[in-house]
Amino acid sequence: LARGTAEPDLKGRHVVVSAGGTREPLDPVRFLGNRSSGKQGYALARTAAARGARVTLIAANTGLPDPAGVDVVPVGTAVQLREAVLKAAADADAVVMAAAVADFRPEVYATGKIKKKDGQDPDPIVLVRNPDILAEVSADRARSGQVIVGFAAETDDVLANGRTKLARKGCDLLVVNEVGERKTFGSEENEAVVLGTDGSETPVPHGPKEALADIVWDLVVERLG
Ligand code: CTP
Ligand code: CA
Repeated sequence: LARGTAEPDLKGRHVVVSAGGTREPLDPVRFLGNRSSGKQGYALARTAAARGARVTLIAANTGLPDPAGVDVVPVGTAVQLREAVLKAAADADAVVMAAAVADFRPEVYATGKIKKKDGQDPDPIVLVRNPDILAEVSADRARSGQVIVGFAAETDDVLANGRTKLARKGCDLLVVNEVGERKTFGSEENEAVVLGTDGSETPVPHGPKEALADIVWDLVVERLG
């Protein structure tokens, strides 16, 4: 139970969490992908379930075991992730986009394996933009009062970049991680700042991904009213 309350504070709520990283296929055996482990998204799903929520976890290529008591929807590509998120968001109280979504996908999918040709340079891979799922769910909220949370990994001026991204995406909260050596990818721990559209700035000290997840749900609960 959160903060010693008598009732689990997400009871009666439906929350949607995306986790992992999308893979954009080039041919039947190859893809463009990223290093997201899915662990932060799974921690968010587990902690929400522990706080009483009905949880839909949209899982992109994580290879992690399904958390108990959570509806898991497996997806591969960004386009599939978009469909699954929009469908689940239709009756959701909160949507948390922890997944790393590929910004681009190969324009062409080769139905047969791409082969080398003797003495020839490889063909360039042409990329096209993927849809921005977070911006889309933020722009047309399925429910008024829905709380939407994004994640961003940033370098350089992490807070300024985070503020700009929060405004651009139109979500309510943005969890900003600083990336660098030993930070974030595949690790069990995380360190972040959560920015709110109300100007709030909630620092999350280095610690387990469950601790960050609980802080995110605290901030969501405050905004659900
Ligand atoms: N996101 C999304 N759809 C995309 C790209 C990103 O929903 N096509 C979501 C991610 O799940 C994350 C948030 O947007 O919650 C921020 O992702 P990020 O990659 O930092 O944002 P981008 O707009 O892609 O900006 P950048 O050019 O810095 O990668
Ligand atoms: Ca991106």
